[in-house]
Amino acid sequence: MITYNSSERIFKLDTPDTSYIIGIGAEDYILNLYYGAYLPDINLWANAERIKSASFSPANPHIPHEKFSTDVAPMEYSCNGSGDFRISAIAVRNSDGNSVTDIRYKGHKISKGKPSIAPLPSVYVNDESEADTLEIYAEDKVTGVEVTLIYTVFNNIDAVTKSVRVTNGGKAPVDIERIFSTCLDLPTMDFDLITLYGRHMKERCREQRRLAHGIQGVASKRGSSSHNQNPFAALLRHGATEDNGDAYGINLIYSGNFEFSAECDYSGTTRMIMGINPTDFSWHLEPDESFQSPEAVHVYTNEGLGGMSRIYHRLYINNLVRGKYKYEKRPLLINSWEACFFDFDTDKLVAFAKNAKELGMDMLVMDDGWFGKRNDDTNSLGDWFVNENKLKGGLSKLIEQVNDIGLKFGIWYEPEMISPDSELFRAHPDWYVHVPNRESSIGRNQYVLDVSREDVRDNIFNQMYSVLSENKIDYLKWDFNRNISEAGSALLPAERSKEFFHRFVLGTYDLMDRFTKAFPDILFENCSGGGGRFDPGMLYYSPQIWTSDHTDPIERLTIQFGTSLCYPASTMGAHVSAAKRTGFETKGNVALWGTFGYELDPTKLTEDDRQIILGQINDYHKYYDLIHYGDLYRLIDPHTDHFKCAWSFVSPDKKEALATAVIMRENFCHLFFLKLKGLDKDRMYRCEETGEVYSGALLMNSGINLSRVIWRDGESKMLHFIAE
Ligand code: GLA
Repeated sequence: MITYNSSERIFKLDTPDTSYIIGIGAEDYILNLYYGAYLPDINLWANAERIKSASFSPANPHIPHEKFSTDVAPMEYSCNGSGDFRISAIAVRNSDGNSVTDIRYKGHKISKGKPSIAPLPSVYVNDESEADTLEIYAEDKVTGVEVTLIYTVFNNIDAVTKSVRVTNGGKAPVDIERIFSTCLDLPTMDFDLITLYGRHMKERCREQRRLAHGIQGVASKRGSSSHNQNPFAALLRHGATEDNGDAYGINLIYSGNFEFSAECDYSGTTRMIMGINPTDFSWHLEPDESFQSPEAVHVYTNEGLGGMSRIYHRLYINNLVRGKYKYEKRPLLINSWEACFFDFDTDKLVAFAKNAKELGMDMLVMDDGWFGKRNDDTNSLGDWFVNENKLKGGLSKLIEQVNDIGLKFGIWYEPEMISPDSELFRAHPDWYVHVPNRESSIGRNQYVLDVSREDVRDNIFNQMYSVLSENKIDYLKWDFNRNISEAGSALLPAERSKEFFHRFVLGTYDLMDRFTKAFPDILFENCSGGGGRFDPGMLYYSPQIWTSDHTDPIERLTIQFGTSLCYPASTMGAHVSAAKRTGFETKGNVALWGTFGYELDPTKLTEDDRQIILGQINDYHKYYDLIHYGDLYRLIDPHTDHFKCAWSFVSPDKKEALATAVIMRENFCHLFFLKLKGLDKDRMYRCEETGEVYSGALLMNSGINLSRVIWRDGESKMLHFIAE
């Protein structure tokens, strides 16, 4: 609910358990008065009072200078160059050549529901009653630049979304040099910052540091959200834990260059900003032209990091992921990649399909290597026609055989890439991302295709459209296997060259929009060398994302724990593979915390492995709803316990729980009590595996003693509890 108290000039934005309060102060400055647990109060003007550092925090000459300075006030959207020396959310260079920016309140509108910010992806409402939206209209009187701050609060979940639209209402052109999606000033620096760092094969590991004076943060300038830092951050109040205390989450719905920064200033406050990375960014606006920022999703809870994650999960399941597979059961797939790499033909895939069917799988996915003349990664990206030397008789013949066996069929694409050795490159040598007079770097033998261009997008769309429309394809894996360097487009004039990175992301979104509309029945799975674009922008188009190319279950634990800070199990692509150390059972138990599937040669399994797989597939069906729609509780985090870890899913009515524990490393004199969370303490629960009945209180406070149940490297146990 959103209310405006016109005598106090205060906006109150309430979710069930949180309040976000904005005040319009003297000289129409827009100030943040509070964000945190729900407050019934309206008048929080006292919260804006600050002591400033004499003349070193300059102030507006029309307000008594001891009362107010933008340098210390809790600014709702911080401006560059007008007395606030902390990190700025916006900087607009005007026709005089300076980028002093100063926005003040002009008006507002409160409405039901939530408007789309297309062509950018955003959280949406299924019904207008789910949310209310506030637009605050602000203006820089000198340049005529108009800034709309857009807020949506949800009535059934503790989330607030924010984005910003800038319109050049002046007479001269301007250039936006910084435009962050959100700025949040908190009156303390009593926090730890949690972010998700990583690399290829080790994405989204949790990292925690104490906030310090100055600027700290994470960013990507790789052209994608990246393996290396995720557009997610959380502030956890000192003393808060996984289960209790203040946690502020912030996540950007964007798949390109981003920046998150937190600055603790001299007076001990914290400012967070999240948005498009200003490095190599600017956007030119002629009079009356507008620019819309991506959307940021804020979550506040006093139920610790676990509570924060569960809010993100619920919001993303119901209000971000779209399409047929939002709630429909996803097919259990087997993917050819780790079993064959580029070495397959129709016969091999048909043999895979037969074996997969016998085991109860639903879909065969043919990965990289089916098109052009591709037998390794040196060529053919961009040539999206079937390699009939490999697939004799063509794609439809293969699909017919797979379908006859009773399996669906999926295919791999890497639409935003081009190999220098491709027919597409020879026909259009200026279609790759490059800048004049400079040799381009190469990554995995490929260039990036310039999808900021409409003609390029049309070509790729048409090529892919003919394959997808002429064949019965149920699934598409959309890959992206390098980052962008020497970033530029042959079509962009020099003065707009810094628009390239954002135009590239808009081009990707446009392609994804066209495909998801043209093929609403196809299940899309995003991928970028594993989870290099695991972000909410991608989740808007594809309900699942391949979490990592590392499929070893022990390595996967930190990856899945970290990913789960923000993203639900139903979005995390996880497969059992033939790889490495641990046994099939643990591989299955870990992959069940995700979309589940296989990535191995099913013709080479031992009878023992086949029996285990039959059991796993049974578990997949049995626990599908619990894992996809239940509440995740992280029980023991592998980032902090080096020997073991555990997690659980609890049904929303608390009548059912599934707990999984894994031994990562044998611990001498191992003692292991597994304590559950999120159960009803007064209920009795029967453990399916042991037949024993325990109270919820016992399971959560004493825990179940697994000391003699699992202890060796790689052993794991899944326990299913059902309320009596
Ligand atoms: C990326 C993906 C893999 C596979 C290969 C194919 O690395 O993450 O799963 O699809 O590309 O080249």
